[in-house]
Amino acid sequence: MYFTIYIWPSSIIASILVCKAIIIIIIIIIISLVPSMKATLKYLAGIRGPNGYGSKTTAEQVVEDSMSPSLKLTAIVTGATSGIGAETARVLAKRGVRVVIPARNLRKAEKLKESIEKESPEAEIIISEIDLSSFASIQRFCSEFLSLGLPLHILINNAGKYSPKLEFSEDKIELTFATNYLGHFLLTEMLLGKIVDTASETGIEGRIVNVSSVIHTWVNTRNFSFTKLLNPKSYNGARAYAQSKVANILHAKELSRQLKARKANVTINAVHPGIVKTGIVRDYRGFITDSLYFMASKLLKSTSQGAATTCYVALSPKVGGLSGKYFADCNESHCSDLANEEIEARKLWEQTRALIQRRLVPQNVEFSAAK
Ligand SMILES: NC(=O)c1ccc[n+]([C@@H]2O[C@H](COP(=O)([O-])OP(=O)(O)OC[C@H]3O[C@@H](n4cnc5c(N)ncnc54)[C@H](OP(=O)(O)O)[C@@H]3O)[C@@H](O)[C@H]2O)c1
Repeated sequence: MYFTIYIWPSSIIASILVCKAIIIIIIIIIISLVPSMKATLKYLAGIRGPNGYGSKTTAEQVVEDSMSPSLKLTAIVTGATSGIGAETARVLAKRGVRVVIPARNLRKAEKLKESIEKESPEAEIIISEIDLSSFASIQRFCSEFLSLGLPLHILINNAGKYSPKLEFSEDKIELTFATNYLGHFLLTEMLLGKIVDTASETGIEGRIVNVSSVIHTWVNTRNFSFTKLLNPKSYNGARAYAQSKVANILHAKELSRQLKARKANVTINAVHPGIVKTGIVRDYRGFITDSLYFMASKLLKSTSQGAATTCYVALSPKVGGLSGKYFADCNESHCSDLANEEIEARKLWEQTRALIQRRLVPQNVEFSAAK
């Protein structure tokens, strides 16, 4: 008697993963458009909001309107080796901002630096190594950056990961949560003193931008438990990604409250960049992906439109003093009830702080806490 074992070729599995990813993207687009017919039409037509910007505004437009090239600012942009982060770094550097790019892939970062310098020979780009899923790597990056003695006006927490299967970081934490949320939490904590000092020395408002996603609306309080986020019993990639994106907003809400209590001249906000064809399907190019993307292309943003909200929140005088808010299409927008819950934000901050203090390689990390 013979048994036949069918092993699916990896190309079929890859196609299934691609289809799943594309379906998720289309659902996200629909969710982001559904709230009202008016909002849908506004998005599709690119109708501008009260501040003069809308879904079709590009990062370059926003940056040109927002700052004079004579203003010498320093910004850190995570995840700038591709997609929305690369465009953010490009337009900021073109306008004279000194851009620090922490990257895990230094070759990619060097290539980006070369292409920015080719377009803008005056650009000042500093590259340094970081793996945002590793506490030790973040500590190394921060010591290195702080030892340069540079000011820090803007921190853009943009890097993001979507992991279809369960993986763990070197700190033994689920990889999506470790990268998208915990890594940026620690990075922000370690750099906050520098941002606060720069703001008080220069009188220029410090700005922190957490890049979240409209997909955060998928999560409710029932499926948002800190211990399960660290080590989920059953894993779903889209859910893990959405949970990390709620955490990005809750982080912005709680830190904003603390900064206000300290009377620091620093704001922190969260943004949804829009749906952009970026690295999320980087490894799955092919007929199916390209066809589905072609069909959905009228609903997608270009990378430059995708970087616009981040640049608006990081630079525009129109958001001066606004903190703890959520933005989409360069306008203030509504986030989910969970993301708005002050108690949840405070709880998450305390749990995160306790975890990091337990796991950190001993070093002087001053937590921002206004207890
Ligand atoms: N694209 C969209 O439709 C969309 C929609 C809503 C929200 N977002 C958010 O927008 C942000 C940017 O995403 P994107 O679409 O531009 O994605 P992307 O093209 O895949 O870029 C992600 C960036 O994050 C970096 N990164 C990932 N893991 C890292 C780690 N462990 N350490 C350091 N860097 C790491 C990547 O570096 P490598 O080059 O080394 O991989 C890359 O530079 C993300 O936060 C994402 O969640 C995107």
